[in-house]
Amino acid sequence: MRRPSSGLLVLLLTAAAAAVSPSALAHGSSAKPNATNGKLIFKLYCGKCHTFKAAGTVAKGSAPGPSLGTFKVTAAKVIRILNVGGSDMSSFVGILTPSQIADVAAFVSAPTTAK
Ligand code: HEC
Repeated sequence: MRRPSSGLLVLLLTAAAAAVSPSALAHGSSAKPNATNGKLIFKLYCGKCHTFKAAGTVAKGSAPGPSLGTFKVTAAKVIRILNVGGSDMSSFVGILTPSQIADVAAFVSAPTTAK
């Protein structure tokens, strides 16, 4: 009987996903989240909905999110909402890479910026 090869397939897919590197923003693929890169990502993707003094952004439009930097947000919480979405905020899977999500989470949750 042939052994199922799904385990190998999963391995290959995981390797392929890990090989994707952010192209547009800085060097990105370091193991440690890069909060400086995260600030750039925030300005580009998040600032239109979130006022955040540390990023110099002011929310515009009719359905803004909460002002960040005015209450404590952990990196884990940012990573979670970017992966699964909130009630009004949509997920950023497919828009940001996992390493970009880690970078922006590091920026938003940094002790110098978050309360
Ligand atoms: C289209 C508008 C919009 C964009 C773009 C957006 N958000 Fe949000 N965000 C919201 C709204 C609305 C909420 C309120 C909670 C919800 O939707 O569940 C929210 C909630 C959050 C929260 C949770 C705050 C809490 O209550 O603890 C975090 C953290 C957050 N956003 C970070 C980000 C980051 C980082 C980005 C960019 C990658 C981003 N948001 C982009 C609208 C947006």
